[in-house]
Amino acid sequence: MNEEKKTLFSAIQPSGILTLGNYIGAIRNWKALMEECNCIYALADLHTLTVKQVPAQLRSNTYELAAIYIASGIDPEKCIFFVQSHVSAHAELTWILNTITYPGELSRMTQFKDKSRNHADNVNMGLMDYPVLMASDILLYNADLVPVGQDQKQHLEITRDLAIRFNNRYSDTFKVPEPYISATGAKIASLQDPEKKMSKSDPNVNAFISLNDDRDTIIRKFKRAVTDSDTEIRFDESKPGISNLLTIYSCVTGKTISESEKEFEGKGYGDFKVAVGEATADLLEPITKEKNRILSDKKYLDEVFANGALQADRIARRTLSKVYRKVGLVERKH
Ligand code: TYM
Repeated sequence: MNEEKKTLFSAIQPSGILTLGNYIGAIRNWKALMEECNCIYALADLHTLTVKQVPAQLRSNTYELAAIYIASGIDPEKCIFFVQSHVSAHAELTWILNTITYPGELSRMTQFKDKSRNHADNVNMGLMDYPVLMASDILLYNADLVPVGQDQKQHLEITRDLAIRFNNRYSDTFKVPEPYISATGAKIASLQDPEKKMSKSDPNVNAFISLNDDRDTIIRKFKRAVTDSDTEIRFDESKPGISNLLTIYSCVTGKTISESEKEFEGKGYGDFKVAVGEATADLLEPITKEKNRILSDKKYLDEVFANGALQADRIARRTLSKVYRKVGLVERKH
C-alpha cells in the first residue's frame, strides 16, 4: 500500500449475474481509479445470505463474479481483491458495531424497506443488519473513498455515522469515508420501467441487460425498451426512458450526453435503440469472452482468492485488534 495514495474500498454481491447497471455504476469507476488509489475490492458473499440463495449457485456466482471483475480490467496484481467471508474480521467488527447501532436507524433504510416488501417471507435479522456489515467492510480498511451507485448512498451515510459515533465514544479510531458517486451512470434505470433502477433480481428479464446476454439478446432488449411517444432524442426529466438510453450510450461509448444528443439529431427512436444496443454489445462482448476463459481456470481464481485474503486479513486484523482494545476486551496472548 502506497501511503501517499488514497485508499478506496468497494464490493459487489455475487447474488446473480451482474447487470449493465452494476457495470456502469460500479466496476467502470473502479477501473478508472485503479492507478490513482490503493484499491481494495471484495466479493460481498456474506451480504447475499440476507436473501435466500441456492448454495451451489452462490458458489458458482462467486467464481463468475470474480472472473467478471478480472475480465473488466480489475487486475488482482494491482489491487487487493478478495472474498468477504475469507476474512473473518468483517463479521467480528459487525458485532462490535451492532452494539452502537439502533434498530430504528436500520429499519428506516430504503433498501431494507424495499427488500422486506420483496421478500416478505424472509425478513431476517441479517437483512436489517446489512448496512452494519457494509460499514465493517469499509471501516476495517480505513477507506477514504467508496465508489458506489446512487442506491448505496444511504448505506454510506450510516457508515459515516457509525464511524463518528465510535470515534466519539472510544476516541479516534476510524477514518470517516466519503462516497464516490459519478455524475452520470450512478442510477441506470430498468428498460421496462424507467422510474425503477435496473436490478438483477427483476422478474422481467427484458428489464435488464445481463453481462451474460449475447449480442442479439442485448439488441432485442434495447429495441423493446419503454420510451415516450415523442420523437426527439433529448435528455430531459420528462423523458426518463430516452434519458436512460442516452446515459447508457454515453457511458458505454465515452461520449458526453450532448455529443450523443447531437449524433442522433433528426433520427428516430428505432435507429437510436439499435445503436445503443450495438454499442453496449461492443463493450460487453470481449468482457464476456474473457470472463469465460478465466472461469475455466478455477485453480487460478483460488490462488487469487488466497492471495487477496492474506493481504486483506493483515490490514483488517490490525484494525480489529485496535477496536477490541478500545472497547475494553482483554487481548489474547499467544
Ligand atoms: P450490489 O451487488 O447490490 O450492487 C453493486 C454495485 O452496483 C451498483 N448498482 C447500480 N449502479 C447504477 N445503476 C444501477 N441500476 C445499479 N444497480 C446496482 C450499486 O450501487 C453498487 O455500487 N451493498 C453493496 C455491496 C457492498 C459494498 C460494501 C459496497 C457490500 N459491502 C462496501 C461498497 C462498500 C451493493 O449494493 O451491492
